[in-house]
Amino acid sequence: MARSVDAMIQLDKVTRSFGNTHAVDDVSFHVEAGEVLGFIGPNGAGKTTSMRILSTLDTPTSGEAWVDGFSVVDDPDRVRARMGWMPDGFGTYPNINCEEYLDFFARSYGLRGKNRLRAIKNVMGFTQLSQLAKKPISGLSKGMKQRLCLGRALIHNPKVLILDEPAAGLDPRARIELREMILELANEGKSLLISSHILSELAEVCDRVAIIEMGKLLAVGTVDSLLNQPTDQSSQNLTTQVAVKFISDLSEFLDWIKTRDDVEVVSSSYDTVVISCDANHEKQSELLAAMMNSKLKVFEFKEKQNSLEDVFLTVTRGAVQ
Ligand SMILES: Nc1ncnc2c1ncn2[C@@H]1O[C@H](COP(=O)(O)OP(=O)(O)O)[C@@H](O)[C@H]1O
Ligand SMILES: [Mg+2]
Repeated sequence: MARSVDAMIQLDKVTRSFGNTHAVDDVSFHVEAGEVLGFIGPNGAGKTTSMRILSTLDTPTSGEAWVDGFSVVDDPDRVRARMGWMPDGFGTYPNINCEEYLDFFARSYGLRGKNRLRAIKNVMGFTQLSQLAKKPISGLSKGMKQRLCLGRALIHNPKVLILDEPAAGLDPRARIELREMILELANEGKSLLISSHILSELAEVCDRVAIIEMGKLLAVGTVDSLLNQPTDQSSQNLTTQVAVKFISDLSEFLDWIKTRDDVEVVSSSYDTVVISCDANHEKQSELLAAMMNSKLKVFEFKEKQNSLEDVFLTVTRGAVQ
């Protein structure tokens, strides 16, 4: 496959093997300008390895990858100039403060004089670290360290950001702040690839998600498209679950269900029976019509929405931890 002109991040059949371990196995996907792509998979799935390749810290065993059109293998300097990388672990720099830390990285990106001071000021403002400029890194909370790490990735104003598990270990408030920063960066037109082992952690901020397990890419799409896909992929005649609420007698309802060979009872309580029936909406409509034409007094007929967890469990075949 040729390089796509529009993609800001693109992987084409990327494989990275360590001996017999195929950490990343024939993975292809892309991220467009201004898009947030969630890279989701259980621990050991191959997320960090893929991201290290995109960040020019590792090279693929085979396949190709580009950032803003530049090959991560042939043009690593140009890639680094356009890409900000936030690793999953924060290095130990106990004796310097936030400003010195950002200053170091600004210098290493070649920012000089006023440009460097402006970059540090902008980044500290964006990550709300201005008040903490002189605070030693050893005294920062996990959330503050994450903001500083994001600031470091942003110091050269890159078009592309690659964030490895940025929400891991954050408290709820820090998570909300992170989400807001991610959305703001995407609004500015930056492209973001963000990994997590928890789909729900990223679902709200991602335009699309790519799900990876054991090095293989299992699905790419919007969260909605994944939620709406049937979870029972193995069967030809897809079934779904529908919760039916009624004011009739439970036994009357169950007797009626027994007369149908296209419906099975999954669970029942005094006013609700969850049934398993055909996923086809035409068939469901016929079933509802039959209920209405019987003596049953049904007041709700609702197809069960797949939860994010259902989707993740199905797509990853249950390997999520
Ligand atoms: N340098 C390495 N040497 C050997 N195996 C590695 C190395 N880096 C990663 N792996 C293996 O590759 C697989 C994917 O790891 P990783 O990309 O870190 O997964 P994730 O970030 O999704 O948790 C794991 O089985 C891991 O043990
Ligand atoms: Mg990882």
